Amino acid sequence: MEGTLTVKVARSEGPVEYQVPARANQTVLDVVSYIQRELEPGLAYRYACRVGMCGSCAMTVNGRPRWTCRTHVAKVARRGVLELAPLAHLPVLRDLVTDMAPFFEKWRKALGHFRPREAPEGEIPDFALIPPASPERQQADAGIECIGCGVCHAACDIVGWNPDYLGPAALNRAWTLVNDLRDGAGAERLAAVAGDAGCHACHSTQSCTAVCVKGLDPAAAIAGLKRRIFWQDPFGWGGG
Ligand code: SF4
Ligand code: SF4
Ligand code: FES
Repeated sequence: MEGTLTVKVARSEGPVEYQVPARANQTVLDVVSYIQRELEPGLAYRYACRVGMCGSCAMTVNGRPRWTCRTHVAKVARRGVLELAPLAHLPVLRDLVTDMAPFFEKWRKALGHFRPREAPEGEIPDFALIPPASPERQQADAGIECIGCGVCHAACDIVGWNPDYLGPAALNRAWTLVNDLRDGAGAERLAAVAGDAGCHACHSTQSCTAVCVKGLDPAAAIAGLKRRIFWQDPFGWGGG
């Protein structure tokens, strides 16, 4: 690819257009870095690893949320034009930088942290008991590679309508821990992710799964939570 790219950036003070040299194998993050280094030193954006590990570089690229360090311009530019905006459904701090605090607050509400199960007296610690190839471990592994990028959260219409909805990433994390035999949160986590702001708000549109940068399936995780809550009944509603 050669020539010039037209890059329209939704900055805090309004849209600004830049001309950037097009290069072979250029990523969207390369383009943003070029603008900040060569054209507009005041442009705010966020990244850390550049190799798809940290989850910090997500933005809206031509209308769709993406991780910019792993998105090639050649794949997403339309007639040499890129339109960049901050990630949707989160407060904007400045230019392309969103405040991720509400996103990770949802992980906290979904009890998205590991809570070790108490081992009965005399039992060897759980960490030694689950072989890596076992079905139990594979079930927990299905959603574990999440890098917390917020791309699925930005793609979810229900998050857009109801900012309190925990959203696909936090619920996927909860499902991973529900399937972790070493975890002891049990019914408490299921209760935390149920209801109108939890998994029952999901309409199963699968937009989250379609955009997940790690190829995870948060929509299936949420369906799994609904099933588990139905059968396990953490509120005791079905107990008569
Ligand atoms: S499947 Fe559920 S969580 Fe995923 S985008 Fe659709 S409504 Fe949102
Ligand atoms: S589930 Fe996928 S898209 Fe969502 S935060 Fe995790 S890695 Fe990103
Ligand atoms: S910069 Fe770390 S995932 Fe893109």
